[in-house]
Amino acid sequence: MSEEKPVFEQESGRMADRCIMVIFGASGDLTARKLLPALYNLGRNNLLPREFAIIGFAKDDITEEQFKEKVRNSIREYAGAPANCDLCDWLADHAYFLNGDFGAVDDFARLKSKVEELEARHHTGGNVFYYLATAPGFFGPVVKQLGEIGLTEEKDGHWRRVIIEKPFGSDLNSAKALNQEILGVLKESQIYRIDHYLGKETVQNILVFRFSNGIFEPVWNRRYIDHVQITVAETVGVEKRGGYYERAGALRDMIPNHVLQLVSLTAMEPPISFDADAVRDEQSKVLHAIQPMMPEEVLTRAVRGQYGEGMVGTEHAIGYRQEPMVDAHSNTETFVALKLLVDNWRWADVPFYIRTGKRMPKRSTEIAIQFRRAPFRLFRDTSVEKLTPNVLVMHIQPDEGISLSFGAKIPGAHVRLGGVTMDFHYADYFGTEPSTGYERLLYDCMIGDATLFQRADMVEAGWGVVEPVLDVWKALPARSFPNYAAGSWGPKDADDMLKRDGRAWRTE
Ligand code: BG6
Repeated sequence: MSEEKPVFEQESGRMADRCIMVIFGASGDLTARKLLPALYNLGRNNLLPREFAIIGFAKDDITEEQFKEKVRNSIREYAGAPANCDLCDWLADHAYFLNGDFGAVDDFARLKSKVEELEARHHTGGNVFYYLATAPGFFGPVVKQLGEIGLTEEKDGHWRRVIIEKPFGSDLNSAKALNQEILGVLKESQIYRIDHYLGKETVQNILVFRFSNGIFEPVWNRRYIDHVQITVAETVGVEKRGGYYERAGALRDMIPNHVLQLVSLTAMEPPISFDADAVRDEQSKVLHAIQPMMPEEVLTRAVRGQYGEGMVGTEHAIGYRQEPMVDAHSNTETFVALKLLVDNWRWADVPFYIRTGKRMPKRSTEIAIQFRRAPFRLFRDTSVEKLTPNVLVMHIQPDEGISLSFGAKIPGAHVRLGGVTMDFHYADYFGTEPSTGYERLLYDCMIGDATLFQRADMVEAGWGVVEPVLDVWKALPARSFPNYAAGSWGPKDADDMLKRDGRAWRTE
C-alpha cells in the first residue's frame, strides 16, 4: 500500500489538519485502550490526515519496533480491527518511539530533533499536538520543558496544542496553581483540558436536544421542573487503581469534572452560537451560579459512602478496604451524593441531586428531569402516589436514549391511571458505530475546536463547588465506613437526604 493512502471505509466531514501527535506516557493503558483505537476509527472514517505521525514518549525500555507492534495489537484488541488490516499497518508505519524521561532536558532535545525529522518525512507542516497521558504530577513539568525548548511556539501559520488529561489539580488551589503554571508557557487557546464525558455522543446530544427542539425549552425551568437527578452509577469497584483512588475518592474523581459537565449542559442558557467560547461562557456561568455550601450545609447536603462486601448481580464483590493497594482502615469515599442549588432565575429552588458511586447494582449514567405534578387533582379517586410525575430521562450510558414517562388511562370502564413510557433508543435509529469516545475529542483538537474541552475558569469553578465539601470531610473523617454493601444503591443517608425533601432517588 502506498504511504499516502490508508484504506478508509467511508467518507465523512472535513479531514483533520496534517500534524504530529506526541503521546507522553505512551506505554500506558489509555494509549492502548483509547487513543490508538480512536485514531484507527478516525482513519476508517476518512478524518485522519495522510500527513500524520505519532511519537510515543515514555520511560519504558522498549524499541521502536515493539511500539509499532503495540500499535497494531491494541487496535486489533480494542478497536476490533481484522488481522489483515492495511490501516493498522499504515498507523504502525507512521508510529515512532522515544525512550525518555519527563524531567530530562536532553530527552526533550531528542524529541525536538525527532519532531523536525518527522515533519520533513511526513510533511506535517509544523503542526504538533502533545497528549499528556501521564501521572498528573508531570503535567506542569512537561509543559515547562516543551516551552523551554521551543516546542510550543506557534509561528509561520502552524499550531502547537496540548491535551491535558484529568485530574486537573486535586483541589481549588492546586488547579489554580496548575493553570498558572501552564498559562505561563501556553496561551489558553493552545490548551485542551480533556473530560472524556464530553466525547460521548449522548452528552453532546444534550445541547442538540435542548436547543434544536422548540417544545422542551419553554418548560425547562423552575415553573415546570420539580427537580433534577443526575446519576453516574458503576458496577465496577476500584479495579487496579487503588493507589490513585485512595488519594482521590469519588468526589474528586467524578464530580468537578464529569458530573458537573452534565449539570452545566443541562442547566445552561442557550449560547449565542456554537463557538467554543460562546458555549463555554454559558457553562461557566452555570458553574459559578451553583451556591457554594456553607460548612454546616455540607452535613445535610453532602453524603459520602464506602462499599463493603456484597453481591453485584450474581457476583460476590469484596469490600473497598480489601481491594489491592487500599488501606485496610481507609476513609476514602467510593460514593457521593450532593444536593446542589443553581442560584439563577431559571433554576432558583430547583434542587439538582447528583450521585455517583462504585459497586452499584447496575451501570447507568442518566439525567432525569422530573416535572411538577399536574396542578390539581382532577382524578380524585386516584391516590397521589399513583399519579406518576412526568420524567424526562436522558440515558447517557449504557442504553443510550431518551425516555419520557407520563400517565395514561388504563383501559376499562373505570378511570384508572397508569404510568407509561415513550422510549427513543439511539441504536434503533442510528445503529451503532464502533467508538472509544475519544475520536471526536482528538479530531476536534486537530481542527482547533475547543468547544468540548474545559477552559481554565470552568475547571476552577468546578473545584469551587466541591471545595467546601472536601474541607469539611477532611476535618471530620467518616466514622461509619463501610456504610453500603456492594451491589446496593449507596448509604441510607443518601436516601434520607431526598426523603427530607419529600422525594426519592430513581432506582429503575
Ligand atoms: C474516570 C474515573 O474518569 O471515569 C473512573 O477516573 C471512572 O473512576 C470513569 O470509572 C468512568 O467513565 P465511563 O466512561 O466508564 O463512565
